[in-house]
Amino acid sequence: MLLQGKKVVIMGVRNKWSIAWGATKAAYDQGAQVICTCSEGSSSKVKDLLAELPEAELVICNDVSRDEDIDQALEEIKTKVGKIDGLLHAIAHANTEDLRNDFILTSREGYAHAQDVSSYSLVAVARMLREKQMLNSGASLIAYSYFGAEKAVQGYNVMGVAKAALEASIRYLAVDLGKEGYRINGISAGPIKTLSAKGIKDFGTILDMVEERAPLHRNVTIEEVGNSTALLFSDLSSAITGEIIHVDNGFSIVGV
Ligand SMILES: NC(=O)c1ccc[n+]([C@@H]2O[C@H](COP(=O)([O-])OP(=O)(O)OC[C@H]3O[C@@H](n4cnc5c(N)ncnc54)[C@H](O)[C@@H]3O)[C@@H](O)[C@H]2O)c1
Repeated sequence: MLLQGKKVVIMGVRNKWSIAWGATKAAYDQGAQVICTCSEGSSSKVKDLLAELPEAELVICNDVSRDEDIDQALEEIKTKVGKIDGLLHAIAHANTEDLRNDFILTSREGYAHAQDVSSYSLVAVARMLREKQMLNSGASLIAYSYFGAEKAVQGYNVMGVAKAALEASIRYLAVDLGKEGYRINGISAGPIKTLSAKGIKDFGTILDMVEERAPLHRNVTIEEVGNSTALLFSDLSSAITGEIIHVDNGFSIVGV
């Protein structure tokens, strides 16, 4: 098992459709001790899911745009399990109107909100993990991104801009964290029908387009993204840092 003896934190499980749930199951199946964080509102659903995984822990982290919420969650994790070997950031949010209207209409507040929750929170989490000396030697951090960071995808709008900032943050964080031997990478996942994805206009068309054009002619599953996440947590990926790895059935490599 790839992750035997490792402790990994998964931030962003909401329900059984969450990509973070695919990562939780994959890490668990590979032998990791898993600590999930979720918001208060999702906690009863996530508790039920975790009942399938003996020894998995649940910690509340309500709002990653509040430093005190992140701080409290990390302190609780430190108390429960001590140092960790990996953390997945699977969190994003934008205001509905900013995903429905043309991008040009994005408000200053909506732009800042999407950046704060979906991108800056990764920087805050990484910094606090380091300040609290919570990372074991060789620890690996991961965040989820999407193709809309690289190309203008209709309807992805302000979230594409936030993901572009997330991907750039991963590269800068890789330089800082690398000084202590820690790694950080992004996974650019293909589209998956989740609660968050429901907010994106014409999401069904995006799924159809992937089936038609991706070299493997199908959409990805949360299990596949979860398995790639487990690989990045594992020592098999020990020389990979600062990368954005596409787990998208090859969609992003196709031109015309
Ligand atoms: N679904 C897709 O097509 C797709 C593709 C590529 C990347 N992603 C990314 O994967 C990650 C997980 O999304 P998902 O699609 O599994 O949807 P999801 O709705 O299951 O998960 C999103 C999570 O973000 C959390 N969240 C939102 N705002 C928060 C805040 N302020 N504080 C704390 N938590 C907050 C939610 O509670 C939820 O757990 C996101 O970063 C998303 O952008 C999704």
